[in-house]
Amino acid sequence: MISQTTIDTVFETARVEEVIGDFVQLKRAGSNFKGLSPFSDERSPSFMVSPAKGIWKDFSSGKGGNAVAFLMEHSHFTYPEAIRFLAKKYNIEIEETEQTDEEKANTDVRESMYLVSEFAKDYFHNTLLHSEEGKAIGLSYFKERGFTSETIKKFALGYSPEAWDAFTKEALGKGYKLEFLESTGLTIPKDDRPFDRFKSRVMFPIQSMSGRVLGFGGRILTNDKKAAKYLNSPESDIYHKSKVLYGIFQAKQAIAKQNNCFLVEGYTDVIQFNQAGIENVVASSGTALTPDQIRLINRLTKNITVLFDGDAAGLRASIRGIDLILEEGMNVKVCAFPDGEDPDSFAKKTPYEELVKYLDENAKDFIQFKASMLMNDAKNDPIKKADLIRDMVVSISKIPDRIQREVYIQECSRIMDISEQVLVSTLAQLVQKDVAEVGKKLKQEQKDKAFEVVKNDTPAQVQKIDILYGLERKIIEILLLYGNKTEEFEDVLLKANEEGEIENVIEKKQYKVFQRIYLSLQEDEVELANPLFRDIFKSLTSYYLQNENFNIEQYLMHLQPEFAQEVTDILMEDERVVLHNWEGQNIFPKSKNDTISQYVSETILTMRWYLVDRIIEEIKSSISSEPGSDNIEPLSMAMDYSKLINSFSKKLGRVMSRYSN
Ligand code: CTP
Ligand code: MN
Repeated sequence: MISQTTIDTVFETARVEEVIGDFVQLKRAGSNFKGLSPFSDERSPSFMVSPAKGIWKDFSSGKGGNAVAFLMEHSHFTYPEAIRFLAKKYNIEIEETEQTDEEKANTDVRESMYLVSEFAKDYFHNTLLHSEEGKAIGLSYFKERGFTSETIKKFALGYSPEAWDAFTKEALGKGYKLEFLESTGLTIPKDDRPFDRFKSRVMFPIQSMSGRVLGFGGRILTNDKKAAKYLNSPESDIYHKSKVLYGIFQAKQAIAKQNNCFLVEGYTDVIQFNQAGIENVVASSGTALTPDQIRLINRLTKNITVLFDGDAAGLRASIRGIDLILEEGMNVKVCAFPDGEDPDSFAKKTPYEELVKYLDENAKDFIQFKASMLMNDAKNDPIKKADLIRDMVVSISKIPDRIQREVYIQECSRIMDISEQVLVSTLAQLVQKDVAEVGKKLKQEQKDKAFEVVKNDTPAQVQKIDILYGLERKIIEILLLYGNKTEEFEDVLLKANEEGEIENVIEKKQYKVFQRIYLSLQEDEVELANPLFRDIFKSLTSYYLQNENFNIEQYLMHLQPEFAQEVTDILMEDERVVLHNWEGQNIFPKSKNDTISQYVSETILTMRWYLVDRIIEEIKSSISSEPGSDNIEPLSMAMDYSKLINSFSKKLGRVMSRYSN
């Protein structure tokens, strides 16, 4: 594991505007930077970076956070990957924490395998570009297929020479251990003459989402019917065929941005599409998609378009695998190419606009596509048709979303000319299996619905939720912006005067803002109602308590991803207004003229007021309208609370405007 010291150094060193500046063109705007959102296609900038606060906010998608959060969001790094990336950028040496011997041995082994693979990628690539043999055989092959130098570089394509141990010799000479050459499968052990796995092949490095080289595919260049056309790295500690997708490293940003992923079969399909200008494409490398691969795509988009070679047999075989994609809750479209074409050949000869148009016009919703295709087969054959219905219902049953299932039932009933009732009852049988799960979901749905009813039917309730929400959000805002400020607050104390009478005395006392809020809420025995705010409140107060010299940048460094959206929203509120001004609208940030202590006291008081008000209403609703019932107690309680409210409104200096902002 990366040590905390390293993580801290990385955070202290990394400048959010520099990190983001590598990916987004930023323009200075006052004390901030603005740019076009990398998460959506937009023409006017809604993306803000605040160097002072060390955070960014994308107002078009609501996303936001610190430099690490940006890398995780934008480049789809894991947390440690983002830290390592930044460490590399800023030349910070990574210190690893103590691991058990076994852990150490394991990470060492895998790290060494990554290093060997990285070396191999460079070796093959350089050999392709610079050796006589590479240029004459490998490079000319790629050029013949129409790949440009840029494409070759982008995918780090390579060439492995004809000599039986060219690579192994080179790697050993450079100090790489035979053990790792063998465990990555690059070298095949044979007594004292270990030899290269990929001799005389053009090489396709297979990379992880974050760009690490995991393995290789090597294509033969001769027409040897006996030898496999493609040879791939064997399974190893770093290469799990079922968990990787070829091209994902180059495609991830385009997939997220286009909100769609094209799935093809082969290495060359991916490359040719990229060259044609369509970058959101990955390959399953000739096999059916696995759940792990689907989840990899699912991290980036919910939409997938499966592209089929133009031969009917392959199409039928592939269709089975698609149920798996539905099961992951993804929306699937399929698109077939004309007879005899695969994505590679079609993209190669079709201009960009035409290609996009073809995909657009020919991509069909999977369920509809399957129903129509099978219907064609089964038209006049009742037995086949019965099979087909079952088959369709199986596909539909895989869809997790109930409403979507219903829509498809209607569609299929139309396409296959069969009553919805039959489809529904067949579906019910299939779904029965997952009764428990469905039950759970149903309960949740009912809960959601119950809430919706409240929302839609009684505006007063909604208003209340909004008021409380607004107040709690304000408390978080105060904590974030002024939590560590020391301010003077007024306390009302009961004291004996010189004559020995008890009276109210106003005493001024210094508090830290966060203490004042914390103590007030504790005194009232109030917890924030909104779960997210409650969690942020806890994390903030504990941070304040533990860090004498709290500063917001420090806190943001360790900001939990779940909090990022809300926290950056609050912190960048003013910037949003500035942003709107650029768009020519005359909105000005509301000024916080009041002193901080006033602002805090007002917010706390308003919160109390609101809560007491709620209690009064509860009491009122418990008052019975039955004649002869004894309501003295609740009535007098309500009176007491009303008095309390009067005192609040006096303190707040307003009578009418309750809960105003
Ligand atoms: N494949 C493989 N091993 C093979 C054949 C195919 O691993 N012996 C995988 C490769 O990932 C290949 C994909 O299946 O890219 C699709 O195979 P195919 O359509 O035969 O190859 P193409 O990608 O079309 O390759 P090319 O155009 O170079 O013939
Ligand atoms: Mn091909």
